[in-house]
Amino acid sequence: MDIKITKSPTSRIHEVNFDDLPFGRTFADHMFVCDYENGAWQNPRIEPFHNFSLHPATMALHYGQAIFEGMKASIDDNGTPMLFRPERHAKRLNISAARLCMPEFPEDLFVEGLSKLVALDQNWIPKEEGSALYIRPTMIATDEFIGVKPSQSYKFFIFTGPVGPYYPKPVRLWAETDYIRAAQGGTGFAKAAGNYAGALYPAKLAQDRGFDQLLWLDAKEFKYIQESGTMNVFFVINGVTITPPLSGTILDGVTRDSILEILRSEGKPVAEHPITIDEVVQAYKDGTLQEAFGAGTAAVVSHVAEIGYRDLLMTLPPVSERKIGNHVKAVIDGLRSGKVEDKWGWTVPVLAEELV
Ligand code: COI
Repeated sequence: MDIKITKSPTSRIHEVNFDDLPFGRTFADHMFVCDYENGAWQNPRIEPFHNFSLHPATMALHYGQAIFEGMKASIDDNGTPMLFRPERHAKRLNISAARLCMPEFPEDLFVEGLSKLVALDQNWIPKEEGSALYIRPTMIATDEFIGVKPSQSYKFFIFTGPVGPYYPKPVRLWAETDYIRAAQGGTGFAKAAGNYAGALYPAKLAQDRGFDQLLWLDAKEFKYIQESGTMNVFFVINGVTITPPLSGTILDGVTRDSILEILRSEGKPVAEHPITIDEVVQAYKDGTLQEAFGAGTAAVVSHVAEIGYRDLLMTLPPVSERKIGNHVKAVIDGLRSGKVEDKWGWTVPVLAEELV
């Protein structure tokens, strides 16, 4: 399918202070849009960034058929824009789509539209380490209808914006024992908008207590660790890096997978197995809990400073001593800037020819 490109006559880039980029508030000049009508994706196009006009009965607003991805583009030392594992994000979007009864978006069109968009707005990619062009592919149901059934029409769009770190400092997590994020058979593995909506209230309660985010436990026993509000979680206990397995209730994080691959390729001990909050508490008491960190596209690798669980506050070792977390963060940042050799083929350069 041909992607029609309409360039913005002017750029807003001069309005942006690249030295002060709060996360998620600044948006680049263009967006990719494609519509699903009559059983097919149609009219893929890149247009100047704009608002949509939505009918009040637009189904996504009522029944939550809305999914998204979070990706980043960076720029290497030669000035070439790079995407990170775009095919994996395209596949995950379609896994979310299937669960929410939405149509698959063609993976090749996802990568082509994204590449052309990033090529066009490449001046918006910040150069400072820790900053990036955040990319938000999104799909919403657009039928104008009141009634619970899958929509027949959808809009897929990608917009971008320069961002600094999501968590500028190590985070304090509260292990949640009253509310749940996901249960077996639910939508926990999908990047569904509703998963985030349901988390807002318990996250607010934790924030009121001085924590940054939640550490979610399983829905049945409030025992097994799932993930944090915006990222997968890892613990380093007695030299082994442990993360909960993909059980259907946690997101199959691209950063999570990359960290596991990096550590395995270096022969470091890693384990994807169920881990309970009691094991973490025990390791803390034994002095074997060396690190905890979150991993996600937005968060990259975010060290956990403290974990609150019932009446216990676990303070973890200083960040300067976090060998694994600091190492995987440096490798991922280095891959993104082109300073670390990419032996996995994860970084995909966006070439100038993308625009022809
Ligand atoms: C991401 O890591 O890209 C996400 O989508 C998480 C979001 C809550 C910022």
